[in-house]
Formats: sequence, structure tokens, C-alpha cells
Amino acid sequence: MTKFLDWMPVAASDYAKEVDWINLMITTAAAVCIFAVTAAMLFFAWIYRRRAEREQSAYITHNYTLELLWTAIPTVVVIAVFYFGTKSYVAARTPVKNALEVQVTGYQWGWDFLYTTGKKSTNELVVPVNTPVRLVLKSRDVNHSFFVPALRLKEDVLAGAYHYLWFTATRIGEYPVFCTEYCGLSHAYMQGKLRVVSQADYASFSQIEQIHEKPVHEAGQQLFAAKGCMACHSVDGTPRVGPTLKAIFGREEKLVDGSKIVVDENYLAESLKQPNAKIAEGFPANMMPSFEGQLSEQELEALIAYLKTL
Ligand code: CUA
Repeated sequence: MTKFLDWMPVAASDYAKEVDWINLMITTAAAVCIFAVTAAMLFFAWIYRRRAEREQSAYITHNYTLELLWTAIPTVVVIAVFYFGTKSYVAARTPVKNALEVQVTGYQWGWDFLYTTGKKSTNELVVPVNTPVRLVLKSRDVNHSFFVPALRLKEDVLAGAYHYLWFTATRIGEYPVFCTEYCGLSHAYMQGKLRVVSQADYASFSQIEQIHEKPVHEAGQQLFAAKGCMACHSVDGTPRVGPTLKAIFGREEKLVDGSKIVVDENYLAESLKQPNAKIAEGFPANMMPSFEGQLSEQELEALIAYLKTL
């Protein structure tokens, strides 16, 4: 078993170890089946071979015990595979509260990382060990895919939509990051690094050196004032022409069509670009101007970062 796992890349999280265990279980079950079935087939073909021209095979109808067994055993195995697979998949995809957030932008051909402190890095994602991390992924151009073999995690990175990944790295070290969606000429070179460091090292890494850099949400706050958002949206809970933005992020919002949505990055970005796409219940449509084409990607990101702090 350890030999088999030696073929796998290093597992840098508990989730990765779980994936390896499930992978091993499925491979073992498949190997046992293929060997047992092939061996039985060859064995019977040999001992029951036709020995004479006039030899006739016996008339066999059925065998309840055998039929029940070969139905029940595989059923149990398949249900076990489904159970463990679903359990770990759901665990990996369930939002973790108070996770450290990193904005990831894929482009032809590299990765940009933006940390909550305003710190930026390129092609190297630095995260503290034993800390839940939430990646918010998007693309500046074509489709990419963010793959960290050591975490056994992969997620598509698209333009115009946010995708997410959660993980808790449990092992300090450096691990490769690959783009696994063919994205043009230098796709093969679109490689990065995940560096898992101690909490103390992360604290010193994420400090910003340059004076002109400031936390992303502060830039967003200035933009919020500059664009006049305050005229219609309060941040203290008072209703104005538009819904208050107090505690907007993660809030369940009722829409005019009766449906409900949970406010996330995708909803905020959409509402800034196409304000009439999803109107909150109790508020008039066609009130808010569209900011489509008026905000750069960085400005959009800063605004969303600010809205999350309210
Ligand atoms: Cu980006 Cu392939």
C-alpha cells in the first residue's frame, strides 16, 4: 500500500490523503475483480473444455445463492465508493468560515495572486500552514484551469465568472501549480508554485513594502465614494433608493421574481455591470446605472473587496 502511494505526488493536505485512500480503495477493488474474473474464466475454460465430439454440456438453469452474492457484493462495493467519494468531495467544496482569501487571476500565460493585505505575487501562491484558504479564481482572457496536484484539487478559471476552491494545507513546502486547460501557445509554460509556510512567515510575507500599496478594500471604499454609490445605498442599514449594503456579502436576498440568491462575488459583479439582471424585492428596476466598461478589473475587485467588509 505504501508502495502504491509512493507513486502519487506528495499529499500536502488531509483532503489529498483522503483522495489517495479512496483512489487506492477503488484501484484495489478493480484489481481484485479483474484478476478473480480472469482467473476463474481461464480455470473453467480449461477444466470444462470439450473432450470428445459427442460430449454435451449439462443443462443448468440457475443458482439463487450465487446470483444473490454476485449482485449483493458489488452493490456494497459500489455504494462504499459512492459514499466515501461524495463525502470527501462535499467536504472539499463546502465553504469554510473565516477562511483566508486570496484572489487568483489567470492570464496568458501566468498567475497573479492578490492577498487581503494588498500584497501581490506572480506565479507563486504563498499560504500559511494549517489555515483554511479560499481562492477566488478568475481569468483576464481565455479559459484556464488551476491545478495543484499536491492538494488533489483543480478548478476551472474563466473570464466573466468567479470560481472557488477551499483547502487547508498541512505540510510546509513547495508544490507545483499547473494550468490544465489548453489556453494557447505557452499553455505548457503556465506553471506556478504553491509555497506553504509557517504562520509567522506568512505574516511577514503578506506585509506590504511599498508606501503606495494599500489594502484592496480601502481602494474600494474610495471608489465607492467617488462613484457616488452612497446616494442610493447606505452602508449602515438605512434603506434608501437601493438596498442597504450593510452585511451584503453572504446575505440571502429575495428577488422580485420570488427566487432567492446568496450574495457572492458573481452577484455583486453582475449587479454592477447589469443592475437590472436580478432586482432585490421591494426596489424599483431601471434605477441604477450600469458600470459596464466604466470599471477596470482592479476597480471592480476593489469595490467587491470593500463590500465584503461592510
Ligand atoms: Cu492557461 Cu493553459
